[in-house]
Amino acid sequence: MSLTPFGGRPDAFAASSSSERRPKVTTATLRELKLRHEPITCLTAYDYAAARLVDEAGIDIVLVGDSLAQAVLGYENTLSVTMDEMLHHVKAVRRGVKRALLVADMPFGSYQVDSRSALANAARFVKEGGAEAVKIEGGEKRAELIRQIIDAEIPVAGHIGLTPQSVNAMGGYKVQGKTLSGIEQLMRDAVALDRAGVALLVLEGIPREVAAMITAEVGTPTIGIGAGPDCDGQVLVFHDLVNLTFTPPAKFVRRYGDAAALITGAVQAFCDDVKTHQYPSDDESYHLPKETKAGLDTVLARKRAMGR
Ligand code: KIV
Repeated sequence: MSLTPFGGRPDAFAASSSSERRPKVTTATLRELKLRHEPITCLTAYDYAAARLVDEAGIDIVLVGDSLAQAVLGYENTLSVTMDEMLHHVKAVRRGVKRALLVADMPFGSYQVDSRSALANAARFVKEGGAEAVKIEGGEKRAELIRQIIDAEIPVAGHIGLTPQSVNAMGGYKVQGKTLSGIEQLMRDAVALDRAGVALLVLEGIPREVAAMITAEVGTPTIGIGAGPDCDGQVLVFHDLVNLTFTPPAKFVRRYGDAAALITGAVQAFCDDVKTHQYPSDDESYHLPKETKAGLDTVLARKRAMGR
């Protein structure tokens, strides 16, 4: 007899899910969606369970973001998360994603040192982690490196605007592109990455008007986060979406569910049931087969009769 933990169905992946009925998302799909003005959806995921749920719900892109640092590992910012930690989670997410495009975020320090180590790290995400693209923060100053990674047959997602790995350089998490010179820099960044051939471009923490200009200017699909509704797609951090964070949400976050309330309620109910002897019930217990039970009763009765 096989015991399936967590009430899971071992054959659930074999059952046809909505994600399996739809064609696999590739970088080409994203271009087609942009051309058709069909919004692109993207969420982060950091583990197998969330990856499966998000993928089977029909998301286009799953990003193993370096926001793993705060969302899952409890670090203060994204600067601390390492290549090995990222890779561990990319592998778990890979096992859960079938349809969506899987993008792995290059953590701080994995691409800033030199292009040789950047290429080696990008290749690890593909070879060991099964990622289909890697994401790199930074604009025109990263264009040459991005070109080299694309030359190595690894699709790249760009990321400009409020780039969290630059928190110290920016002096905090500040909306970017609010001045004319800031807008010009962002336009140069977007065009440089577009020309370098990025597969998608994340626009984070910039005014709606600027995101709209960039989206109209470049052929690359833009994916916004805190960049308004005119981007080609939107991305949110999974933990923000379902309220699994412990800090007040940013202005652009919309809570679509309250997993914290659900989990807290379930844990409290479990504790109450155990403390009041209501869990587990007899129905939730395993029982001896009839013959074994009869044999055991006989043995126990004999022992009692012999005074032992
Ligand atoms: O790390 C991350 O989650 C990200 C997205 C928010 C774009 O970079």
